[in-house]
Amino acid sequence: MVMHKLEVCFSPALFSRFENPQAIVVIIDVLRASSAICTAFANGAETIVPVADATEARELKKKGYLVAAERDGLVLDFADFGNSPFNFTSEKVSGKTIVYSTTNGTRIIDMSAVSYRTVIGTFLNITSLTNWLVSQDHDVILFCAGWKDKFNLEDSICAGAIAERLLGSTVFSTICDSTHASLDLWSHAKNNPVQYIEKAAQRTRLHNNGLDDCIEFCLSSDFTDIIPVIINGQLKGLRPCDL
Ligand code: MLT
Repeated sequence: MVMHKLEVCFSPALFSRFENPQAIVVIIDVLRASSAICTAFANGAETIVPVADATEARELKKKGYLVAAERDGLVLDFADFGNSPFNFTSEKVSGKTIVYSTTNGTRIIDMSAVSYRTVIGTFLNITSLTNWLVSQDHDVILFCAGWKDKFNLEDSICAGAIAERLLGSTVFSTICDSTHASLDLWSHAKNNPVQYIEKAAQRTRLHNNGLDDCIEFCLSSDFTDIIPVIINGQLKGLRPCDL
């Protein structure tokens, strides 16, 4: 049986070192893009159009699209709402197409277009995601959004939690030190991830903006079995059997 390669990329600034056209790239942005995307689809969103450039998002708003957009955590003036997963209620998003632009998450979705496939991963869909990855005959790159090219703790422990499950299968192996580092961080955080993230810079940013009410939810496991996937540049929320 072919063993597949597992790697963790801690920063967008390093991604060019990891490029592998045969790999499935898992986009990890726990606070908050991955969590918001999974919540939107769990609440019935039809399509999410990731737009890295805020100007393009503004133009699409003028064309009548529903827009969720933030920079540095704060909702942009033209957007309908920001990036808290609690904004993506079924009343607001069910059956809708949402134009989506964030500080880090949408940028790395763009960057991962070189890969075989791009999916969204986080604690909220961790079991469904890892079971599906094990069933796929491909290498995997866990791509952490970080913060403006800097390493962050929350994405790294999530990568560790996912790596622990993948390496627990007979399908994956790793010779990647970032993967080992993420496993070590997860071993420190796993008993109480919310407490572990107390020291994280993003927690402080969200707190200072009065946006930290979603942190416990974002660090909770298995809110949904949906795995958001990029199809023709747009995100669709699919269940493993439909992927
Ligand atoms: C991002 O994509 O940069 C983050 O999710 C930012 C945030 O939600 O505050």
